[in-house]
Amino acid sequence: MAVYYQQEKQMFTLQTAHTTYQMKVDGFGFLLHLYYGRKIAGDVDYLLTYYDRGFSGNPSDAGEDRTYSMDVLPQEYPGIGTGDYRSSALIIRNEDESECCDLRYVSHEIRKGKYGLKGLPAVYAGEEEAETLEILMEDAVSKVQVQLLYGVLEKDDIITRSARIINQGENRVVVEKAASACLDFVAGKYDMVSFYGRHAMERNFQRMEIAHGNYVIGSRRGISSHQYNPAVIIADKGTTEDTGSCYGMVLVYSGSFLCEAEKDQYNQTRVMMGLQSDFFHYPLEKEEELVIPETILCYSGEGFGKLSRQYHKCIREHVCRGRYRDRTRPVLINSWEAAYFKFNGETILNLAREAAGLGIDMVVMDDGWFGKRDDDNSGLGDWQVNEAKLGCSLGELTGKINDLGLKFGIWMEPEMISEDSALYREHPDWVIQIPGRKPVRARNQLALDFSRAEVRDYVFDQICSVLDQGKIEYIKWDINRSLTDIYSLEKNQGKVTYDYVLGVYDFLEKLIQKYPDILIEGCCGGGGRFDAGMMYYAPQIWCSDNTDALDRIRIQYGTSFFYPVSTVGSHVSAVPNHQTGRSVSLHTRGVTAMAGTFGYELDPQKLSEEEKKEVRDQICQYKKYAELIRRGEYYRLSDPYKEPFAAWMFASEDKSQALVNVVMLEVHGNTLVEYVKLKGLLPDEVYEEANTGKCYYGSALMEAGIPLPAEMGEYLAYQIEFKRKDR
Ligand code: GLA
Repeated sequence: MAVYYQQEKQMFTLQTAHTTYQMKVDGFGFLLHLYYGRKIAGDVDYLLTYYDRGFSGNPSDAGEDRTYSMDVLPQEYPGIGTGDYRSSALIIRNEDESECCDLRYVSHEIRKGKYGLKGLPAVYAGEEEAETLEILMEDAVSKVQVQLLYGVLEKDDIITRSARIINQGENRVVVEKAASACLDFVAGKYDMVSFYGRHAMERNFQRMEIAHGNYVIGSRRGISSHQYNPAVIIADKGTTEDTGSCYGMVLVYSGSFLCEAEKDQYNQTRVMMGLQSDFFHYPLEKEEELVIPETILCYSGEGFGKLSRQYHKCIREHVCRGRYRDRTRPVLINSWEAAYFKFNGETILNLAREAAGLGIDMVVMDDGWFGKRDDDNSGLGDWQVNEAKLGCSLGELTGKINDLGLKFGIWMEPEMISEDSALYREHPDWVIQIPGRKPVRARNQLALDFSRAEVRDYVFDQICSVLDQGKIEYIKWDINRSLTDIYSLEKNQGKVTYDYVLGVYDFLEKLIQKYPDILIEGCCGGGGRFDAGMMYYAPQIWCSDNTDALDRIRIQYGTSFFYPVSTVGSHVSAVPNHQTGRSVSLHTRGVTAMAGTFGYELDPQKLSEEEKKEVRDQICQYKKYAELIRRGEYYRLSDPYKEPFAAWMFASEDKSQALVNVVMLEVHGNTLVEYVKLKGLLPDEVYEEANTGKCYYGSALMEAGIPLPAEMGEYLAYQIEFKRKDR
């Protein structure tokens, strides 16, 4: 059992293998947060303290007791207007325009299994793997009810939180802001780790103190964004990669989000994750409800590394779905950096011919195969194969590719439209734009209103008729701009951003139901929608448009804090690199791309015979380790922002095999020798290094480390395999 309720104290305790989460209903019906962290025994309601605090109001229920104030007490889901002046998890505007929502406990239910969320992706688990706690709260005046949902995956040390807001009153209310999770800490000094970035340079690590005031990150772009990933860590001051306490909050949502951290007047800390409040004013008529996307919470008492591994497992096994969830992914070659828009069927076939000789499994035809699309100024929305450009039908092309022994995949961007397209000429009203204003363009394109079912249905039919033309086994689902001009015909405008995301999910759900065998790779100008929400539909996502191995090391380092390697789309591309102009060796590019789904993004015809041989060997090497990489436990062995080398390793679950990957970031005269310490091995077991046959104790590899080769050359890379010796 993972969820416990003590009737006499009205106390809820959630227990996972190594963590405890506790809260209680107080005498007035407020739901107070007590504790989240390393596993503890007993009740900790003694942590609540009561003093008369000037300028902190007291609810009328408290009578003359001036020591009871919502401005000070730790809460599970603080609503606005209760005397708590900190940021609210929920803001409701009532029919009379007042902003108030005073939530009190009504009832609760504990059941087996994990709750699901209508229309939204969420962590899923078997009946025996999880328990659900649902606490019903209500505002007595407006009759707005909130079901607070807690999912407890005991073995995995995961607690999920979400909320369902239901208008049980007679009058319409507007949800102005809603979080899915709030964590109130009465004590402690914390840092927040977040992952900021930009197009082609996503998920840079940033650690900063949560100081007095509010620190806010989020997205107003309608996509989760390149700029801030919807996932953060709250860490004790001293927490490191391998020691100390930290908490993760990962939002399972692909649209605009808001994450707030606040240190209050009494040095208490509140962190919240949920929906962005800008461009969001969600009306609820009588009996209507709104479901808030889920946040996955996780605690580690052993630093960031353990936190990451817990998230990796959770996302791999309880978020990603479908045929490819547990399968080795195909090694693919993508036409984008090989040919951009300049290709025909023969170009793709040539890629396939070369790929077949190299041991590649799949050819992906990227942007440019449909409508009038010879550059990025036209054609989006016209999902009809341009047979004149290809010189053949899609069926013929896929057939020929299959005959070469390769699978075929295709790129698409269903949410978008070019003004220069037949679809736009026919349906200019399907675009997201404000009547009377000229919409903001980005990449010279506009967004379709995916919040409208008729728009989605039309595009869905077009896409299906393409998919039905040949054996298509992979889709790269792209979106290449953020939303602006938020407006939808026939709809309340405050709903658009949320309904858009649910529209995308609805489309994707229908697609995977209809084509369960197709592997979907998400993409958004690379990693602009790299989030757990998309992973529910697309078990891998193109991590960044930046394929430079050196930049990728940092991007993939940041990505690894939450997302498993099996979700990270990563390819070897040509040099000089198209995004940076930098040249690094094929080997280094390969080692870096192997910290992902692995594939190629270049024209093999331009490779020398020697390079082709190297690619062939590289693919063999990857295939040898593919399962270890996909399922193995991932350890960061260095911080590439601070150390002169980047190193990471994969260890099999039974600790019998490990693969250490190293890329040297600096080289100097009279060079220094660097040492790397391994992690996650069994200390008392002996491990043999595959190449040299040298044997080491696990403890020596982990405590003393191994010297890295001090060779001449820039950005040299190494893969070192260790195998546990049989006793
Ligand atoms: C985006 C993607 C690229 C490529 C182009 C095609 O930028 O991230 O990989 O597919 O679109 O236009």
